[in-house]
Amino acid sequence: MKIEPFELERWQSVWENKVELNISESGVHPLTTAELVPDVEQLKKILDVQQLYPQTNGSEELRTRIAELYPGAKMENVLVTSGGSEANYVSTWGLIEPGDEVLFMMPNYMQIAGLARGFGATVKSLWLRESLDWGINVDDLPRLVTAKTKIIAICNPSNPTGAVLREDMRAAILAAAEKVGAWVISDEVYRGAEFDGEMTATMWGGYERVLATAGLSKAYSLPGLRTGWVVGPAKIIEKLWSYHDYTSISPSMLTDRLASAALEPARRAWILNRTREAVRANYPALQKWLADRGDIFSHVAPKAGAIAWAGLRDGRDSAKMAEELRVQKSVLLVAGEQMGMESFVRFGFGGDQGHLQKALGRIDEYLQETQGWQSRSA
Ligand SMILES: Cc1ncc(COP(=O)(O)O)c(C=O)c1O
Repeated sequence: MKIEPFELERWQSVWENKVELNISESGVHPLTTAELVPDVEQLKKILDVQQLYPQTNGSEELRTRIAELYPGAKMENVLVTSGGSEANYVSTWGLIEPGDEVLFMMPNYMQIAGLARGFGATVKSLWLRESLDWGINVDDLPRLVTAKTKIIAICNPSNPTGAVLREDMRAAILAAAEKVGAWVISDEVYRGAEFDGEMTATMWGGYERVLATAGLSKAYSLPGLRTGWVVGPAKIIEKLWSYHDYTSISPSMLTDRLASAALEPARRAWILNRTREAVRANYPALQKWLADRGDIFSHVAPKAGAIAWAGLRDGRDSAKMAEELRVQKSVLLVAGEQMGMESFVRFGFGGDQGHLQKALGRIDEYLQETQGWQSRSA
């Protein structure tokens, strides 16, 4: 099987540790293990666990804690994976047959689209629209969903726009899938990172063929744990578990225990609160910077996540801009092209404020030096 390069992951893997100012990340500043488990007795218990193979689909405790995040779910509805990325991988792999169609929300984290094409599916785009505050036009669905549609893959809250689907849009996607018996794969890895503290409604439970994927990398600020999961009907979860036997077999014992600690209700609330405080504290400075340069950038405020998606009003090549910023200013951001939409850029604001300010200063220099761009405020 041939695969297309996963541009975003390659870009970050190669450059994120080589630039001075990395604002390509989409999560908030990660927690340390000591912050995650401040109770020394509890930490000691975790350190004393023998490094056996754990229960390969995730321990009962961890699956029960994950199930608590999904109304009506039980541990039988949960498969623990290595990151949200493996959750998306086994879900796509387990469902696709060559010749199937996949309707894929765009712009997006391009994993499922790239994989689906690799597995022999045709991928169609379900575009988010800036004019609808990065929602979908529900009238697009009847034209795009056909008898061949096997999967409708969405990301909610959205990477890269930070938008949350309105209830009518969510319902329209579920109804369109139900009409043709398609699966909905809903990547909900940013669920819990909402600015207003209102947890995004999961797609799970909306209809019988829904797989919700997520993990601890974004809203929970624990990307290094590599803990993810798929939540779905017990029968398909059982099937995907057998696919998982061919990938990583199981989570690591240590991450299974640490992930359980993270999802203990009081700890979980503390972590999500920390995330929300960080996004609320960090975003206004970037929002002002973008607004002051409104002649250069279009921008709709995100509702969740530490990411801001901004359009380049002159339609310039965002991949070229990102590459020049990297080379000339040692700043790494994400080009729209890497998320399936040209002439946009994604700013990550979950890290250190001073760091972000420095990066924005260098972007200002770049904008002034190249092609004579001059924002009104600069
Ligand atoms: C929408 C989305 N899904 C999945 C992933 C992969 O997450 P993980 O680190 O949990 O594998 C990412 C990472 O950026 C993402 O943005």
